[in-house]
Amino acid sequence: MPRVSDSKKKRKPHRGKRNAETAERKTAKWVESGGLERVLAKIESTTGIKTLPEYPDHFLSHRGRAQVTATLAKHFPDLTLDQLYLEREEEKLLYPTPSLHQLDPMHPPYLAARYHNVLKVPAQMALLNAWHALNALNVKYPKPEPQRSKASPALHLGIWETYRLIPIVTTDSRNQPAEVIPAMDFFLSIIGKLIAPRLRTILRREFPCQYSRQQRAYERVLILLDSDLKARPALDFGGAFFTVAAKEGSSEILHLDFNDERHSISWVVPLGDWTGGEFCLPQLGVKIPLRPGQVLVVMTKNLVHCTAPITNGKRIVLTLFCDQYLLKHGDEFLNVPVIDYSP
Ligand SMILES: [Fe+2]
Repeated sequence: MPRVSDSKKKRKPHRGKRNAETAERKTAKWVESGGLERVLAKIESTTGIKTLPEYPDHFLSHRGRAQVTATLAKHFPDLTLDQLYLEREEEKLLYPTPSLHQLDPMHPPYLAARYHNVLKVPAQMALLNAWHALNALNVKYPKPEPQRSKASPALHLGIWETYRLIPIVTTDSRNQPAEVIPAMDFFLSIIGKLIAPRLRTILRREFPCQYSRQQRAYERVLILLDSDLKARPALDFGGAFFTVAAKEGSSEILHLDFNDERHSISWVVPLGDWTGGEFCLPQLGVKIPLRPGQVLVVMTKNLVHCTAPITNGKRIVLTLFCDQYLLKHGDEFLNVPVIDYSP
């Protein structure tokens, strides 16, 4: 039997125990051997950055479905999803905002971006299990939205303010049989613990203006919905987003999300095992595959979008967003001047 002291001797020293001098020497050696260049080359080879010739503003002033249909017919006649360029599956994808619009301080730096490996497999499994456990109960679903999807309705959970003066807990979160609420809160608490912190980090680092606006909206929500959030802390996503639209299947009809704000972004998180279901953006000329663990962020009020049909398997999709009234009233609440950019 080896003595304890012997086994301790064999163990490699922990990286953290290395003294400053050794760390500095090893870092210098790594830099000298081209380590930094190798890392940068790796990032470049696994990041697809797409430059756009011009700002895709076809739908900026649109108010309703009829206008969208007319503009689609004018600018994208005979459009089929086969015409769109199919992006690669694996890499990080960025669609930077064309430079002129980057001068607008409120505008996100990217029109769309796909992040890779955001959700690990255990997190995906936990979410799917909680979703199935919730749907094994008698959940009340709203009517399907025929303007977006031919079949599956979505549950809108969390907080929103659509066309109101103050935020509320959504009807789908409240108007449910008593046994549904704990299962719903369990599902939402997993989203809050495993997705929200990661998206908040991306938001803070890559979308600082959107992060600040959402934090202002969040401070207001914390004040106005204090008792609701104390009673149901699972509805609190820390300002990373406020509403979760959850459904099985996809929105196969080209549409804009009119409840979003012009400068806001939405997150799309797919879950399950499926083929097909690419996210289609005709103004960018692309369809973006979404695989388990990936997250897409996109300006869903500026860019008309739909999802290609799921050809095999089942997919649950979570759309995580902050509606326009939460953002606008959040700005006003703290006396931040609201700039009206509407055309
Ligand atoms: Fe949408």
